[in-house]
Amino acid sequence: MSATQAMSKLAIDGGTPAVRQPLPPMYPGGMRIGKEEEDAVLEVLRSKRLFRYYGPYEGPSKVAELEKAFAAHMGSEYGLAVTSGTGALICSLSGIGIGPGDEVIVPAYTWIASASAVFALGGVPIPAEIDDSLTLDAADVKRRITRHTRAIMPVHMRGAPTDMDALMDVAHEHNLQVVEDTAQADGASYHGRRLGSIGDVGAFSLQFNKIITSGEGGMVITNSRDIWKRAVMFHDVIGGTRNGIPEDEVLPGVNFRMTELQGAVALAQLHKLDGLLDQMRERKAMLKASMEGVAKRKGVTFRKENDPSGDAAVCLIFFLPEPERAHKVAEALTAEGAGAGVIYTPGHSDYHIYPYWSPIMAKRTWTPTSGPWRWHEGEVNYTPDMCPHTLGLLGRAVQMDVSPDLTNDQVEEVAEALNKVLEALA
Ligand SMILES: Cc1ncc(COP(=O)(O)O)c(C=O)c1O
Repeated sequence: MSATQAMSKLAIDGGTPAVRQPLPPMYPGGMRIGKEEEDAVLEVLRSKRLFRYYGPYEGPSKVAELEKAFAAHMGSEYGLAVTSGTGALICSLSGIGIGPGDEVIVPAYTWIASASAVFALGGVPIPAEIDDSLTLDAADVKRRITRHTRAIMPVHMRGAPTDMDALMDVAHEHNLQVVEDTAQADGASYHGRRLGSIGDVGAFSLQFNKIITSGEGGMVITNSRDIWKRAVMFHDVIGGTRNGIPEDEVLPGVNFRMTELQGAVALAQLHKLDGLLDQMRERKAMLKASMEGVAKRKGVTFRKENDPSGDAAVCLIFFLPEPERAHKVAEALTAEGAGAGVIYTPGHSDYHIYPYWSPIMAKRTWTPTSGPWRWHEGEVNYTPDMCPHTLGLLGRAVQMDVSPDLTNDQVEEVAEALNKVLEALA
């Protein structure tokens, strides 16, 4: 076999893999941890002031600085730092007054935490269909509204914006509040506005595999002083008193407070966010352009983009006409060293897809008499076929990470893998 024949022969059939070196791990901010984070953490350690509100010595708070900087970066007035993205969702939902029996519409494709956060407050998550953008379909949201519905939670999955115009129209029409789950899309935008700043309140994750990270951590942003006040009180058991909220208005809070160490890392990472986004966008654009010809010829379509320039570009997603071919293509790409997977494979448990949210699907609660079902008068039943369109789409969706650390050579090799595999198998 000649070298050219070996190159064009698929690696899955014994040919030479198009990608020669392992691709960089997909921890965009995590892989950029460097001197800035080290210095910031050391500064906190040396100050012996690990908690924002007190310590042996006076000094500025990294967490307070992060809250200001993060909110400003995202175009919102108020920011609140918390311990996780889930914590950010719970504080956001408390901020808008979600409680026992309230229905919140969530996409059928999202990390289970979006639904669990609603559940944790005694609310009822209602899964709704996604559209070709793999984010909430406003038309289906409308169909799922009942008299118990209080809020909608668009989730900007895999870095890409939901169609916020359509969704905000539905929310306004039905007097519903909007919590943006921006856990996977730090810094991305929709028609010039950063995600998280468009709805009533936005929640972010700084968990280790997110775009920027402090290991664990989360942020809440809002333009409403009222929502912010409520979220502050929920996240800190004495947050009301600390923030001068009159005692007769204070609500009982818990503890989702961020440490100064996390604050220091998150702040350093925030300064790297837009650079990371630029690099991922540039690489994704090159990959997409490289496969446009073969995609068109083979009937492969791309994920719909509600705002192409706002996409965080953490991944490339395309649809094959049917699941079998999607699996073949993903396996062949993986054999080429290009790392690909089909988002939904029936029978493979994945907490990103509603039929696998087993505790919620089974309405399992901490005690037999607790949870939403004690208060919810309506009859809500979760069934594996309640969002068939979502499963249909995800079952033929192939996804590939786009690391900001891909070299030009690696982009070319992945492009070669895409062309080779789609040409042969799509
Ligand atoms: C869409 C979505 N929402 C919420 C969360 C929860 O964030 P965290 O893991 O920081 O609690 C995640 C993170 O995994 C997520 O991907």
